[in-house]
Amino acid sequence: MSEQLWGAVDDYIVDLLVEPDPALEDALSASSRAGLPAIAVSPAQGKLLHLLARIHGARRILEVGTLGGYSTIWLARALAEDGRLVTLELNADYARVARENVERAGLDGRVDLRVGPAGESLAELAAEQVEPFDLTFIDADKASTPDYFEAALGLSRAGAVIVVDNVVRGGALVDPDSEDPGAQGMRRFHAALAGREGLSATTIQTVGSKGYDGFTLVLLDGGGAQARIGALRR
Ligand code: SAH
Ligand code: DHB
Ligand code: MG
Repeated sequence: MSEQLWGAVDDYIVDLLVEPDPALEDALSASSRAGLPAIAVSPAQGKLLHLLARIHGARRILEVGTLGGYSTIWLARALAEDGRLVTLELNADYARVARENVERAGLDGRVDLRVGPAGESLAELAAEQVEPFDLTFIDADKASTPDYFEAALGLSRAGAVIVVDNVVRGGALVDPDSEDPGAQGMRRFHAALAGREGLSATTIQTVGSKGYDGFTLVLLDGGGAQARIGALRR
């Protein structure tokens, strides 16, 4: 089975099920013109994030890794008028492109884009004691995923959802000797999930226009999780 076929099936799915959205299409073309790497989630994956946020009734969303704001727009489109999305990006040039894309989508009132190393921004959010998040999407430097996950736990309310992108990495996830620091990060992340109390998780392998990869879906327990994960707040 070829990557070409995965792409063709993705095109078919998007054609029939993902309604055209000029703001999302413009975000991709503006990102490409500005020289950003083409590593945003696929349209079908973007819609999955959007649907998860709606299913969960998310009012507060945290995103780690903005790039040009493509996944940001998908997620922010799921928020109610008074909902809020905080997104974290290291690269100031990418952030500028993202800001324009989010503005063009009419979502700037709902999106708080913070520039800097996500580790620092996450610590700042904790120090600010921001209202806890309902849903977090982790999609930045892969080697740091376990750290971002721990930080996200502390910023999440009981019952929150955490989605982590790029966890399978072409199968490198199962290679203990992988020289890909990202794959090692995803192995550490899975080890941290294994047998952990207070949450329930699964990982789904994916193929499509973005190749062979996968995502992890984590659901934090309700009240019981709070006792076990110190910083968890309602
Ligand atoms: N979520 C985006 C894609 C993100 S790509 C989408 O699907 O549309 C990963 C992003 O993480 C890149 O923009 C990269 O600059 C950013 N990144 C890398 N290291 C980071 C760090 N330490 N802190 C914050 N962002 C980082
Ligand atoms: C990369 C990052 C991503 O978030 C992704 O979905 C694919 C690739 C990367 O850094 O190469
Ligand atoms: Mg990704």
